Amino acid sequence: MTVGAVTADGRARVLADGNQMPMLGLGVWQVPDGPACVNAVRWALELGYRHIDTAQAYGNEQSVGRALRDSGVPREDVFITTKFFPGHKDPVAEAGQSLRRLSLDQVDLYLVHWPQGGAAWAWPGMERAREAGFARSVGVSNFSASELEQVIAAGTTPPVVNQVQFSSLQYRRRLIEACLRRGVALEAYSPLGTGRNLSDETVDRVARRVGRTPAQVLLRWCLQHDVPVISKSTHRERIDQNAQIFGFALSEQDMAELDTLDQTNGTDRALERKWW
Ligand code: A2P
Repeated sequence: MTVGAVTADGRARVLADGNQMPMLGLGVWQVPDGPACVNAVRWALELGYRHIDTAQAYGNEQSVGRALRDSGVPREDVFITTKFFPGHKDPVAEAGQSLRRLSLDQVDLYLVHWPQGGAAWAWPGMERAREAGFARSVGVSNFSASELEQVIAAGTTPPVVNQVQFSSLQYRRRLIEACLRRGVALEAYSPLGTGRNLSDETVDRVARRVGRTPAQVLLRWCLQHDVPVISKSTHRERIDQNAQIFGFALSEQDMAELDTLDQTNGTDRALERKWW
């Protein structure tokens, strides 16, 4: 399979290290640890999701691990991501703690959650975490094009993923081009703009035209840009709805209309405001 390509069934993207990432994942940012998180992950696995995205900073890795165990879905069928909290010092030690909370031997993807304290300092530790077998793939999150260049200059192997806020209203063209040049897969989080993008007039017009919901249109737009996408919901019916994005296509005209909506005013950046 060609590196960077999407598999023939449209379900996974081939990363630069040869590993495959399912195109749709459930994200559990802002889902409280405990029943809300266990249920969301359990429903997602029942409904066919095979990709779950958590982080040390979310405080809910334990619930993700529990839902995975309870689901009966074989471990090797599910792609699990967690992220290094960069307020801590040692990505290797923190990966060990994540694996303990998740009750796993290995995660599929381990990301530097954001470039706190500089873009490159954590990268050697991330590479060591992969070499130790704690993660099959390693990458970054919330890195701009220039931060990506800094980490590539510092490391022996480039990150295979940069997970950023990405949607048609945050269409980071220059960042996605920079990722493409470097063989890095851009992965989208908050594809619904944490819900705000659902009421956009153009999104709504396209949704009515194609007979789908605004959420499905926004998620499908990512897929048609070959961007793996993490969606978040704690409601079973929405988790289900958000997975129904492989059986329809947006036309060239739909895509062109959605492609004009960027509001970032600086598309090489990963975010408009830092939180650290
Ligand atoms: P909830 O978790 O209460 O279902 P994003 O993925 O951009 O971060 O957006 C997540 C937000 O969008 C959450 O508040 C979630 O609410 C809401 N959401 C997720 N899926 C849908 C959907 N299909 N329809 C409406 N709102 C949704």
